[in-house]
Amino acid sequence: MNTLMKKRFLVLNGPNLNMLGSREPGIYGSLTLADIERACRGKAATLGVEIDFFQSNHEGELVERIQAALNVVDWIIINPAAYTHTSVAIRDALLAVNIPVIEVHLSNIHRREPFRHHSYVSDIAEGVIAGLGADGYLFALEAGAGRLAACAAHENP
Ligand code: DQA
Repeated sequence: MNTLMKKRFLVLNGPNLNMLGSREPGIYGSLTLADIERACRGKAATLGVEIDFFQSNHEGELVERIQAALNVVDWIIINPAAYTHTSVAIRDALLAVNIPVIEVHLSNIHRREPFRHHSYVSDIAEGVIAGLGADGYLFALEAGAGRLAACAAHENP
């Protein structure tokens, strides 16, 4: 899929992440989502990959973006936010498109309330990064791009 074009990442963000910067800064830090998007775009340029960056407070919109990624996107990086702990619909959409996914959380959800310890995404993800703030998104981009480069080297030795 998508072998000649630049590899494409979809970076998805769930509810209330549009309020980063002012939202519980002791937990989520002081960066805004726009700051994180800028950092992701810079990292993507360095890695030579394309990114789509999207946030929604609505589960259905996130499901629709995942569905639209079919045959277009090579890796999904998702911070499902509160939907991490509730959304069978997002899990099913990720399974339906069968695109490798990395789950990212700004905070370490395992250090927090017990209801945050379960994720509907973790067991279907290639990897999970939690607790490293915005750097988690950048590490996820690096990891995905590294896997794609390794696949390309294997296919065209
Ligand atoms: C979060 C953790 C979730 O439990 C919470 O609902 C969020 C953000 C994080 O990035 O740490 O909204 O996904």
